[in-house]
Amino acid sequence: MITTKTRIGNFEFNNCIMNAAGVYCYDKEELEKVLNSEAGTFVTKTATLNVREGNPTPRYKDTELGSINSMGLPNLGFDYYLDYLLELQDKYPNRTFIFSLVGLSKEETHTLLKKVQNSDFKGLVELNLSCPNVPGKPQIAYDFDTTETILKEVFEYFNKPLGLKLPPYFDLVHFDQAAEIFNKFPIVFINCINSIGNGLVIEDEKVVIKPKNGFGGIGGEYVKPTALANVHAFYKRIRKDINIIGTGGVLTGRDVFEHILCGASMVQIGTTLHKEGPEVFSRITNELKEIMKEKGYSSIEEFRGKLKYMD
Ligand code: SIN
Repeated sequence: MITTKTRIGNFEFNNCIMNAAGVYCYDKEELEKVLNSEAGTFVTKTATLNVREGNPTPRYKDTELGSINSMGLPNLGFDYYLDYLLELQDKYPNRTFIFSLVGLSKEETHTLLKKVQNSDFKGLVELNLSCPNVPGKPQIAYDFDTTETILKEVFEYFNKPLGLKLPPYFDLVHFDQAAEIFNKFPIVFINCINSIGNGLVIEDEKVVIKPKNGFGGIGGEYVKPTALANVHAFYKRIRKDINIIGTGGVLTGRDVFEHILCGASMVQIGTTLHKEGPEVFSRITNELKEIMKEKGYSSIEEFRGKLKYMD
């Protein structure tokens, strides 16, 4: 029997495929579609303390090879997602969901995490250190000193399972430096990668999204090699008890297979989910199972992290 079950920290999931934050996760209606699909779980849209409208539209565009977005963290506010997650927790005591959040300042991030700490929420929290689209707010995870300071402060009061959503890194020294910081803290997972920040797509001599004069995060097929490299670079560098969620460039079961081969325990789908809808989870799960069958693997642990190198 072939299974695509997986684990993140102490939590088990029936499938290793789910949505990426930002897609099908803005409100209960969208989240319910992922909940009732073949996805192993869902992650919410990154919540800030207060409701945010986000950047002016058009702010998302599908392209032939992926997508560009500059959403600017539109979301229904921390309480909306927490209330819904608590409701689901009662309804589905055996399922675990991921709550994505970040403050617009360090203080706001602490406010949010303290609220989670003091709540009955029992799932996973993903701290988004990698949003490239809020004008005037640089990506936190590109500033290693700030990242370390935030984590040091957070773990003084936070003792629920926490993971980090990371931007792509492009230099081996940066993988070393980032991993050294993450290894100091009781993090349960890292999620590699958020979109490649501040790309530009042009059609008919014009940008295709309005915010930031067209600059936006790039996702989809364009980003798979960068995503795989980040998953594998961290897999080789972080403590073995930190799981990796692989995100970026997943169009098929083969892409999921490659993320797992690089070390991912869970794989998220963003742009392709946006293009195809939640039926994508059963298509891609079936494709992954077919590859596992051909190769003689019955569980993802049999090939996770086992990328082969040349002699
Ligand atoms: C956005 O809302 O701008 C995208 C979120 C992210 O990239 O973290």
